[in-house]
Amino acid sequence: MKRTPALQPLSREHLTALLVARDLKAADDLDAAAARFLTFWDEDGKYHFRIEEEVLLPGWAADGELDREGVARLAAEHLTIRSEALRLRAGRLSLTQVRALGELLHDHVRFEERVLFPAAEAALDEESLARLEAAIEAAEVEAERDGRCSGSGLAGEGRRGGS
Ligand SMILES: [Fe+2]
Repeated sequence: MKRTPALQPLSREHLTALLVARDLKAADDLDAAAARFLTFWDEDGKYHFRIEEEVLLPGWAADGELDREGVARLAAEHLTIRSEALRLRAGRLSLTQVRALGELLHDHVRFEERVLFPAAEAALDEESLARLEAAIEAAEVEAERDGRCSGSGLAGEGRRGGS
C-alpha cells in the first residue's frame, strides 16, 4: 500500500536507517561500524526519533485511536536505541553488540513500516492526516535548521531501495 503523504518523509528516512542497519549487522570492524552508526544518529536518526515522538504520536493521539501496544513498543525500542547510542559513543559496545544494534534497528523500522504506520493511517481521517502532514513537514524543516544533514550523504542510495 502506498504510504500516506503525511508519513512519507519518515518512511524515506527509514530507507536510510535500513541501510545503516544492514551495514551494522554485517560489520567486522568495530570502529568503522561505530562511526557509521554515530554519523547516522547525529545527522539524521535522533531528529527522526524526535519527530515520531513529539509530532507523530501526539498528533495521532489527538485525532484518532492510538495503537497503544504499538506505541509502547516504539517507546521501548527508541529508549534502547538511544541508550545503545550513548554506550557506543563511550566505547562500551562490542562488535557483537553493535551487530545486535543493527538487528534491533532493522526490526524496529520494519515494525513501524508494517504495523505502526498502517495503524496510524487506518485510525486517522483525511483531515487529520492533512494536519499531521503539515506538522511533520514543519518539524522536518525545523530539524534541518537545527543542523540535521538530511540523508547523511545517503539520500540517493536510500531512495533507490524499496521497503
Ligand atoms: Fe521511525
